[in-house]
Parts: sequence; structure tokens; C-alpha cells
Amino acid sequence: MSDVAVQISMFERLGGAVTIDRLVEAFYRRMDTLEQARDIRAMHASDLSATKNVLKRYLCEWTGGPKLYSVEKGHPRLRQRHMGFKIGNAERDAWLVCMRGALEETVDDEAARREIDEALTKLADWMRNQADNPHDSGQARP
Ligand code: HEM
Repeated sequence: MSDVAVQISMFERLGGAVTIDRLVEAFYRRMDTLEQARDIRAMHASDLSATKNVLKRYLCEWTGGPKLYSVEKGHPRLRQRHMGFKIGNAERDAWLVCMRGALEETVDDEAARREIDEALTKLADWMRNQADNPHDSGQARP
């Protein structure tokens, strides 16, 4: 018996780039149509193609797949990149509704889906930049 541990990345467990492609399409389809997501949809450009492309690249890299995001954009500094948008509890929750629905639709492996959901929930929570975010010292930033 081999004692070499086989590491399978979240990227592979999800189903690779094909699943990430479908996930991001399903996510923005929800953002485009759900009433709850109307305010966060309005923060985005009317044509979502460029944004979809960046999120696909980001999620490939973040899940342990090819580093498609940082070669183009450098360090993600994701929280800083979101500072220009007002993200409080309602915006976080709307984002997560779209993402959870998209995960349900596109990721078959239940354990992988649960783990990525947990990780994205933490990330979305961290993205809040209003005064009610305990990560900030009570100061909303511009
Ligand atoms: C919590 C609520 C969130 C809101 C309201 C939000 C909103 C936005 C908006 C308005 C943009 C700009 C899109 C554009 O220029 O068309 C953006 C960019 C982006 N968001 Fe979010 N976002 C949220 C959370 C997240 C999370 C949790 C992730 C991580 C998976 C994420 C990943 C990204 C990426 C990768 C970009 C592109 C950044 C770049 O240009 O390099 N966002 N987001």
C-alpha cells in the first residue's frame, strides 16, 4: 500500500473549468432575474460578459485550478476591489442567494458543494464594508 497522500483540489471535485463556467453563468442569470438581487445587479455594468469572465478566472484559481486570475490582475485584493460598492448585510445575503442557487444547479457532489458554500459564505461576509461590519472599526469607507 502506498503512503503517498493523493490531494484532490476543490477545482477537480467540482468538475473543473466546465462546472465553473456553468456556475458563473447560473449565478449571473439569477442576479439578472431575481427581485432580491435587483440592487446588487444595478451595481454591475449592463453587459456582464467581462465580469463573468473575471469571476470564472478568479474561481478557477481560488479553488486550486489554473492561476488564470493573478496572471492578468495580480493579487486579488478582493475586499479592496469591492470598496467602491456599498456592501452591507442585505447585499451580502442577495449575493449568497444567487450563489447558493447556482451551486445547487451546477455542482453534483454534495460534500464539495457544502464546503464551497461555507467558504464563499465567509468570503461574502468579509466583503461587507459598511459600519455594521465588525471587521471594520465602525467606519464605512468610501
Ligand atoms: C457580498 C456581496 C458582493 C457584491 C455586492 C459584489 C459586487 C461586485 C461588483 C459590483 C463588482 C464589479 C463588477 C463589474 O465591474 O462589472 C464585483 C467584482 C468582482 N467580484 Fe464581487 N461582489 C460581492 C461578493 C463577492 C465575492 C464573495 C466574491 C468571491 C468569490 C466576489 C468576486 C468578485 C470578483 C473576482 C470581481 C472582479 C474583480 C476584478 O475586477 O478583478 N465578489 N463584485
